[in-house]
Amino acid sequence: MFRCFMGAMKEIRNIVILTGAGVSAESGIGTFRDKGGLWEKHRVEDVATPEGFARDPDLVLGFYDMRREAIQKAEPNAAHFALAKLEAEWPGAFLLVTQNVDDLHGRAGNRQLIHMHGEHLNALCSACGTRSPWRGTLADRPACPACGASALRPDVVWFGEMPYRMDEIELALSACDLFVSIGTSGAVYPAAGYVRTARHYGALTLELNLEPSAGSLYFDDSRHGLATEIVPAWVEEMLALPQMSA
Ligand code: APR
Repeated sequence: MFRCFMGAMKEIRNIVILTGAGVSAESGIGTFRDKGGLWEKHRVEDVATPEGFARDPDLVLGFYDMRREAIQKAEPNAAHFALAKLEAEWPGAFLLVTQNVDDLHGRAGNRQLIHMHGEHLNALCSACGTRSPWRGTLADRPACPACGASALRPDVVWFGEMPYRMDEIELALSACDLFVSIGTSGAVYPAAGYVRTARHYGALTLELNLEPSAGSLYFDDSRHGLATEIVPAWVEEMLALPQMSA
């Protein structure tokens, strides 16, 4: 089933969506680079790098304990639920790639979902490599459920580490007809480069964000506003598009 979008007579079957912290902001989870954001209160070098963890593991484990506790109090918002509805009702291929480490997309219902920067509610064992669901503290050095070593760290991709499932993401970008970036500043690679990859393969590109991001100039179209307003409106538009051919 094909549809026409953004006035272009382009058949759209496969959609790839990238989200960032802006999609969870209205759920009460702070962003990183907005005024008052996380990186104004904590140095990235201290809490989001392997070197910082090696230097002061207590500081880093305490920081992520705080973040893990905060996201369990948050609820998915209208933007999360709209993206879950789009996945459920879209007739073509759909992939949601998120930079976020909260679990709100999953709780809203998305299943074609890649957490490229890891997940707060997982712990990674540095000894055996096992990932375990984790909701409690790591600061008291609990034992790995698989190997028993006290070597658990947050399953979050730190600066200087390789994001997860990049091959799958690149493959999806090479086959997508529409790439949509939602709630991200376009400050961090490789995610910030995905719009150019999608364009290279001929996709239409759309940015939905509170304000123009660092990569706005690469998008065919941009819409600015609160995610809980512009994302549901866009999803309704997508699901109402005329079908071009079966
Ligand atoms: N609705 C829509 N967009 C919003 C909203 C909102 N309510 N609130 C903020 N935004 C936008 C901001 O304008 C900004 O462009 O969300 C973006 C958030 O940008 P960042 O704080 O830089 O977060 P993000 O782009 O997700 O950061 C990428 O950097 O620190 C690393 O690993 C971390 O995954 C993160 C990555």
